[in-house]
Amino acid sequence: MLHGPNLNLLGQREPGIYGPVTLDAIDSLLQETATELGVQMNSLQSNHEGELVDAIQQALHQYQGILINAAAYTHTSVAIRDAISAVNLPTVEVHLSNIYRREPFRHHSYIAPVAIGQISGFGAESYRLGLQALVRHLRQAKL
Ligand code: DQA
Repeated sequence: MLHGPNLNLLGQREPGIYGPVTLDAIDSLLQETATELGVQMNSLQSNHEGELVDAIQQALHQYQGILINAAAYTHTSVAIRDAISAVNLPTVEVHLSNIYRREPFRHHSYIAPVAIGQISGFGAESYRLGLQALVRHLRQAKL
């Protein structure tokens, strides 16, 4: 699980948009979901684009898939998109808010075209749904 910039401030950051839930609570929800699904999940938050690129590159021989909320980098980062393309690991994009109901600059995602799919608008539940979708995809791919 990769969390992008400013998501470390969840809980205090624009609660009207992102809700009261903290990043720790989201990670706990994801760990619970991972246990239910019988998979292992690790989580990293970074405010730095290059650190997220490094983490995507390092995922290659360590993980089978990527769940990512690239936050503002969703709308700006060719580097993150290229890293996902380069490692070619199944990736699910998630957002707390429905980015298509917000400002026009949030309507475009550089990541969506290189992701299996996107889940946007369900608050913390977006993450749980995203992890479930990723694991189902990986298991189907193995059949
Ligand atoms: C976000 C949506 C982005 O537009 C924004 O920059 C974020 C959070 C979300 O989860 O709703 O930081 O990715």
